Amino acid sequence: PFDESVVVAIDGPAGSGKSSVSKGVAARLGYGYLDTGAVYRALAWSMVEAGRDTDDAASALEAFESLDVHISLEPHDFAITVGGTDVAAAIREPRVTAAVSGVARVAGVREGLNGLFRSLVAQSARPGVVVEGRDITTVVAPDAPVRILLTADPEVRAARRSAELEGQDAATVADAIRRRDASDSAVVDFQTAADGVTVVDSTHLDFEQTVSAVLEVVDQKMGAH
Ligand code: DC
Repeated sequence: PFDESVVVAIDGPAGSGKSSVSKGVAARLGYGYLDTGAVYRALAWSMVEAGRDTDDAASALEAFESLDVHISLEPHDFAITVGGTDVAAAIREPRVTAAVSGVARVAGVREGLNGLFRSLVAQSARPGVVVEGRDITTVVAPDAPVRILLTADPEVRAARRSAELEGQDAATVADAIRRRDASDSAVVDFQTAADGVTVVDSTHLDFEQTVSAVLEVVDQKMGAH
């Protein structure tokens, strides 16, 4: 019933501007937007909420198997629920951010979530979906026509994050980013561009310039849209 949705795959580290840029690109293209990190966070949230140990692989797999998650692919109207509960805000809480690397480390969880991501894209009625995460260009959609690694210097990423999280001092945020980079890279290498992946470095670009740079890559790879 649906034509195949085109995937624009965008990977990158925390604070690279990945989420806002991916949303902006999706809106400009009339595509859907899938924040895969939000689904990892939803799983971590469900475990934290249930008092489960997020470093226990068997427990994480069990939690995944019973996870009733729904995520909207609307770039202008982000929504995510677990068991009918709106968790859009809760999944950004520090206690969830601290727990998410543990569940992301479990291979069975990753395989299960990747299947979910692919079926969400396949079911999308949009002509394409911008899929954002850590392993989209390499594992989830290695055949996507557009694959981008969005990077920025660590200092710039820390500054952006601390502007987002008003009230937290820059040094604390920089330290949190460093620790999350380290634990995330233990799971997937999101800092090196795989073969055929275009690097967009946003260190010296503002939001609009970064969206334009990504759209330029889309143009190059897919022709006029
Ligand atoms: O992008 P984010 O900070 O919302 O991601 C949350 C966590 O999920 C992050 O610690 C890494 C993990 N993640 C992953 O391992 N693979 C993905 N495709 C997306 C996120």
